[in-house]
Parts: sequence; C-alpha cells; structure tokens
Amino acid sequence: MSEPLLEVDRLGVEFVTRHGDLRALDGVSFSMAQGEILGLVGESGAGKSLTGRAIIGLIDQPGRICGGTITFEGRRIDNLRSADLRKLRGKRIGTIFQDPLTSLDPLQRIGDQLVETIRAHLPLNAAQAREKAIALLGEVGLPAAADRMRAWPHEFSGGMRQRVVIALALACDPSLLIADEPTTALDVSVQAQIIALLRRLARAHNASVLLVTHDMGVIAEAADRVAVMYAGRVVEIGPVADVIARPWHPYSRGLMGSIPSLREEVDRLTQIPGAMPRIGARPEGCAYAPRCPKAEPRCRMAAPPMIEAGPRAAACIVEPAP
Ligand SMILES: Nc1ncnc2c1ncn2[C@@H]1O[C@H](COP(=O)(O)OP(=O)(O)OP(=O)(O)O)[C@@H](O)[C@H]1O
Ligand code: SF4
Ligand SMILES: [Mg+2]
Repeated sequence: MSEPLLEVDRLGVEFVTRHGDLRALDGVSFSMAQGEILGLVGESGAGKSLTGRAIIGLIDQPGRICGGTITFEGRRIDNLRSADLRKLRGKRIGTIFQDPLTSLDPLQRIGDQLVETIRAHLPLNAAQAREKAIALLGEVGLPAAADRMRAWPHEFSGGMRQRVVIALALACDPSLLIADEPTTALDVSVQAQIIALLRRLARAHNASVLLVTHDMGVIAEAADRVAVMYAGRVVEIGPVADVIARPWHPYSRGLMGSIPSLREEVDRLTQIPGAMPRIGARPEGCAYAPRCPKAEPRCRMAAPPMIEAGPRAAACIVEPAP
C-alpha cells in the first residue's frame, strides 16, 4: 500500500482551565489515503471539529495538542511554526466551513478573492490567475462565470456562496480538503447538490476530503470510509457501506439505526436515549457504558482499545467483530 496522505496517531487535545486540564480528544487515530473521502461523524461535542482544527493548527486558546502526532504528505505538521502552517493551510490543505461567510470577505469581489488566493500560492501572472479563477467558478457550477467574477458575496444565495467557497478551497490544487458541516447552514433542498459537487470535484482533483458532520445521511451519500467519534475518541472506523450495513460498536448501531435522508431536516442522532457526557464528566472505562444496552461491569474498568478486523476496527470489548 502506498504511504497515507494523512496520518493522525494517538492525537490528544486538552483545554487548560481553572478546574484542571480537560481532555477533549483522547488518543484519536486514523489515516487517509490520497483521493479518499473520510467522514467524521458523531454527536455534538464528540470532538469532530477539534480533530479537523488540530490538523490545520487552528485550535482556539486555551486548547492545545497534548499528545500524539499528525503526519501529512510524509512530514510531521503538529509541531510546525505558525507561519509554516499558514502556508500549508492555503496551499496543500483547503478548508470549507459551515457558514460560507466566514471564508468570504464581504468587502471584496469574489473574482478578486479567488485571484488573490491563487497568486499567493501559485506562480501565475494576473491573466493566468484570472483564467484559472473563471475555470474554477465554472467547475463549481456558477452560470456565466466570467461575469460573476465582479459580483459581491452578498449577491449570492447561501448555496451559491458555498460553491464559491469550494472554488476557493480548490484554488491552489490542495491534496486535502477539510469540510466541517459544509451543508448544515444551507436550505435542505441544496444540501444534496453541494455534497454531490464536493464529491465530484474531490474525485476530479484527486483531493482527499475529511468530511466532518453530525449527519450520517451526508456520510452515507458522500464518504468512502467513516470514523465514528464519541466523547473525544474514535470508537469505530471502516468502509462506509460495511459500517452502515453491519455497525459493530453499539454507539454506531444507534447512529445507523435511522439514517436521515439528505432531504429531511431532522436530527436523528438525538434519538439515542441519554446524552454524551461532557468532557469534564466522562466516566472511567468505556464512555458509552451509561447509555449502552450491551454494557457489562467490565466495560467500566478501562477504556476499550480499538480491535481490528480486516479494514475495520471498533473499541468495544463485548460485541464480536462483524
Ligand atoms: N474553546 C473551547 N474551550 C473549551 N472547550 C472547548 C472549546 N472548543 C471545544 N471545546 C470542547 O471540546 C469538545 C469537542 O468540541 P468540538 O467542537 O470538536 O465538537 P463537535 O464534535 O465538532 O460538535 P458539533 O457537532 O457541535 O460541532 C466539546 O465538548 C467542547 O466542550
Ligand atoms: S465496551 Fe461495553 S459499554 Fe462500551 S460499547 Fe462495548 S458493550 Fe457497550
Ligand atoms: Mg463541530
């Protein structure tokens, strides 16, 4: 097998507070192959966004990486200086966030934003950068792309803005895109279009996508593999079709029980009875035990390790491998 594009190994993130250090991510490990779409799914507060932000070096104070390594394109990036990280972020790693307006400058025409981004990272002159910008806007499905170069962000609908953000994220031919809830803020009717576009463009550009979402329906539609997070840990990972058809971890089973369609606006994750423990209040042993229908006394002794079976792995000591 070729070297992975991204390897996250036992990543830990903690928040330093007056009440002590709170461990938000605890031993998060996964890898991504070039061109692969990996979905990161789980309830609110599970640590999905934090994982994405740790990769791009954007953890808010008072958070910090407190363990593990992140290796991207063969080199460690968890210990880079912030100037080097910024370069990497613009050029090799593109980002797409929930609200397109956080990525777009409201006071700059979208063509100028694209040209500026392209020229900051690629050795192109103004005319070449403009040509590339128009091509990108065409690729993301903006009609009359050349005319749209002069438009302002506020002239677009939410869905069209997110298309522009995708164009910006792809502008420097990155090998990895981190998309954090890219459709959550959009009308339900355009969510599926944006997901389909993201998938198609990632394939066309041979870019990998870390697709962060609380919506298993989005993962089912777009991802190749899925990593299920619970209380700061990855509890199951595997090919998306396998995990949906036969989830192994009891928490994944709860998630997969009712995959919402992309066209429905319901948050079915809340249907698992009980709530995920807050980071300061996680129980000893398996953090899912208080909600788990299969829990046994031994589950509360130590955090279950990931048990591998072929391309799959899950952190449960009771359920047999599928
Ligand atoms: N700035 C912060 N200060 C303190 N704790 C934080 C901060 N940011 C995140 N956390 C903690 O880290 C945990 C993981 O947060 P994260 O944003 O990764 O969750 P998430 O899985 O993306 O959830 P959501 O679906 O709500 O976006 C949360 O439980 C939160 O308590
Ligand atoms: S280890 Fe025990 S409590 Fe945790 S998911 Fe498995 S059966 Fe449930
Ligand atoms: Mg989040």
